[in-house]
Amino acid sequence: MKVIETVDEMRRLRRTLAGPVGFVPTMGYLHEGHLSLVKRAREDNATVVVSIFVNPTQFGPCEDLEDYPRDIKRDLTMLEELDTDVVFMPPPDEIYPPQFNTWVEVTGLTERLEGAARPTHFRGVTTVVAKLFNIVQPTRAYFGQKDAQQAIVIQKMATDLNMGLDVIVCPTIREHDGLAMSSRNIYLTPEQRRSATVLSQSLKMAERLWTDGERNAEHIRSEMRQFIERQPEGQIDYISVADTLTLEELDTITSAALVSLAVRFGKTRLLDNVVLRPYQGK
Ligand code: PAF
Repeated sequence: MKVIETVDEMRRLRRTLAGPVGFVPTMGYLHEGHLSLVKRAREDNATVVVSIFVNPTQFGPCEDLEDYPRDIKRDLTMLEELDTDVVFMPPPDEIYPPQFNTWVEVTGLTERLEGAARPTHFRGVTTVVAKLFNIVQPTRAYFGQKDAQQAIVIQKMATDLNMGLDVIVCPTIREHDGLAMSSRNIYLTPEQRRSATVLSQSLKMAERLWTDGERNAEHIRSEMRQFIERQPEGQIDYISVADTLTLEELDTITSAALVSLAVRFGKTRLLDNVVLRPYQGK
């Protein structure tokens, strides 16, 4: 496994890599969710490149950039075990040199849900992902369904800017009790960790309501809200039942819907989602 720290070196190496090249961008502190993306990239491609870069521009001024968990040694061991070919882990000024002044922004989609709560977040994500795509030039790039809005925004960016790669979205990986895996779960106190299962439980409830024929989106939102509010920990940021392409809130579910939510436990903000899809037959 090669570990590369500069853009020049990554570009030089890229010319020698066998295609197709699968790429998994991460911010490190890897867990089973990331590893599932690397495994999928390994199955689909001749070469697997993983980046580890804690991207400062996607953190707001009051967010946890300095405290974001890091364990490079452990990450590299895990990636080596999965037969990763290249790890690209540039220092911040390699990606954002002094006088850096160019941003990539997807409008509309990024103003809702996470974007409403974190106004500069997606501009940071799309800018760094566009740069990483330019540097690594992958055939396919892999993202988790756990960050559903991020995946939708990146797919839109790749299409709108004719980036010529496939953006592949892989299923959310969960703990045994249903909590979606996230690097931020380690911030939860034992009490908050127990309560955090309300996210996946409320999504299961939404799925059950929908399977039983409920199509009124506001009724689903309100049942989820009441369910979550029954336990004392956890402040709801939003509960959304939205169109899977535009992310606009729905009144009535006529085809697919993205049910997503963000809940705060102390300083930790957890996200989860499920897609309700009509049965399409075989
Ligand atoms: O999902 C993440 O870890 C980050 O947002 C990403 C895609 C690596 C960009 O920094």
